[in-house]
Order: sequence, then C-alpha cells, then structure tokens
Amino acid sequence: MKLYVWGTGCGAGDLIDRGLDPARIAAFLDGEGREGSFLGRPVLAPEALRGEDFDLILVASRHAKRIAKRAEELGFPGEKLLFLKNNWTVADRNSAYDKAAGLLPGELLEELRRPQHPVREPMWLEESPLSQRDLENDYVRLRTLEAICRRLARIPGAAAELGVYRGAFAACINALLPERTLYLFDSFEGFAETEAEGEARGLIEAHRNTNEERVLDLLPHRERAVIRRGFFPETARGLEGERFALVSLDADLEESTLQGLRWFWPRLSEGGNILLHDWGNPKLPGVKRALERYETELGRRIPGVPLCDVCGTMVLVK
Ligand SMILES: C[S@@+](CC[C@H](N)C(=O)[O-])C[C@H]1O[C@@H](n2cnc3c(N)ncnc32)[C@H](O)[C@@H]1O
Repeated sequence: MKLYVWGTGCGAGDLIDRGLDPARIAAFLDGEGREGSFLGRPVLAPEALRGEDFDLILVASRHAKRIAKRAEELGFPGEKLLFLKNNWTVADRNSAYDKAAGLLPGELLEELRRPQHPVREPMWLEESPLSQRDLENDYVRLRTLEAICRRLARIPGAAAELGVYRGAFAACINALLPERTLYLFDSFEGFAETEAEGEARGLIEAHRNTNEERVLDLLPHRERAVIRRGFFPETARGLEGERFALVSLDADLEESTLQGLRWFWPRLSEGGNILLHDWGNPKLPGVKRALERYETELGRRIPGVPLCDVCGTMVLVK
C-alpha cells in the first residue's frame, strides 16, 4: 500500500495522534513548497507524484477545495483521495473508504463514514443523547438545540413546545432536558379550521395525521411529559403561574404564533430561550409577521439570533 498524506499541519499531526503509524506513510505532500521531513517522513511537492502509481492520498488539510482542484490538474484519480476534513460542500466527495479500511484506526474510519460528515462535528458535543437519525433531520437545528440545552443548567423553569405534531423535536428536547417537565401543546388533529383557511392543502392534511400515543412513545422520559391537547391558548388555562426555561414555538401560522409569543414571553425565565421555528421560512410568512406584531405590542425589539437551519429558526433570548 503506497500511502501519502497531503498536509503537514495540525490535521496531519492529529492523524498520527489518532493512531496512524508514520512508518506506513510513503511521504507527506505540501502544496506550499515546504520540503524536507515531517514526523520522520519525507515531505514532497504534490507535483512529485505526477505519473506515479499510488494507492491512496489522505487529505488532512482543511483546504480541501483547493487541494481537490490541484489534484485534478495533476491527474490524480479522484477515487484515490480521501478528504478527512470534507467540509467544503454538502456533497460527499469521498469514495476511498474501503481503501482506508485497513489503514486508519477503526474509530476514525467510523467517524468519516457518518452520513452527514461534510458538516464537521462540533468536537465539544461528542457525548450526545441525540442519535444520528435525529441529527439527519436538520443537523443545525438539532445541534443548536443541544448546545442551548447544555447552557440552561442554571436557568429555572419547565420546557414546552407549542406545535408538537408527531413529536420528533419534542423527543429531542425531552432527551436533552430529562429533569424538566415538558409541556406539549397541540390539537393533535391539525390546525384550527378558521386559521387554516386559505393555507396549502398538503400542509393542512399532513398535520391531521398524528396522535398523542405516537408522540409519547417517542419520548425517552415520557414521565416528564404533560400533554395539553386542544387549541392553544385555551389549553394553557391553569398554568398561568408556571415559568419556562425553554420553549419551542412551532405553530406555523400567524395567529397561533402570536398567541404563543403573548403567553410564553412574559413567563420565560431570565436567560431562557424561545426557539421560533420557521421565522425565515418563505412558505410560512405569518411566523415573521407574528413576531413583528408582538414586538410592536411590546414597544421594543426582542433580542434574537437567527439560525442557518433548514427553516430559519429565530432563537429569542431573554
Ligand atoms: C409544524 S407542526 C410542529 C412540528 C414539530 N414541532 C416538529 O418539529 O416535529 C405544527 C403543529 O402545530 C399545531 N398547532 C398549530 N396551531 C395550534 C394551536 N393554536 N393549538 C394547538 N396546536 C396548534 C398543529 O396541530 C401542528 O401539529
């Protein structure tokens, strides 16, 4: 096996620290013209490999895009390159996993094979109660939820979701905040007819297709859940004295979103968050309007951080 490692920086060093024996590396490649030796192995310019036969180049540099272009110019077959920092496009450029199977430590290979690896994993969220399946749904939304939940440790209050549908997001909140009561507000039969009038048929029909049992079955700590079935805000009656650390507000339509803001914002603890889903969603413009209307009622702007998740969540911060 004639193996090269492209890069002589931290990425290459990390590869060795994670168990790749330098003796197995024919040479390191450095596109910046540095030559000599690195970790006891020779360093060559990539041009030195032109026309040479080799089995695999592990690209350990984060300049993956530039290197892919250079490799193509030099005529290196794409299937012989494995990008360890494949974070420059949502398309997975790698196909050389099998070639690397006997070479890379098993744990590193597993990490590389994960389906969403073009988005690099935050190294500080390694021990996660969320599954790969949860994350595939909307990686940025779910990882941000996780990061937020970790920060909530000293913020008092329950968790809640208005707009639960089949419970996919509720299950993640429940997994990440196992000690908190989780109020789940939904009609479990879709949107109120008056509010849904004029909305797209698919949206309305799809949301009728759920039930509470299905949601509860998804929750890892279902004993923490309190289901409030029916139309909000009537279903919040009796909870006026409650306080919240985290609220997922995901009702899709304008009036219900506004009702949610009016009810939850005053009951949100200092340092707590409302995750306003679909704030940036062009298909559901009522969500953004609801926030604007509520801010007008309040007479001030609520501090918020927009996420680059699929539907444009706005994280409101108290
Ligand atoms: C987009 S879905 C929620 C999806 C869920 N948060 C998730 O991420 O998996 C919107 C839900 O809001 C519910 N909903 C909207 N307005 C409501 C209201 N006023 N009262 C109760 N449920 C409402 C609908 O029944 C629907 O299930």
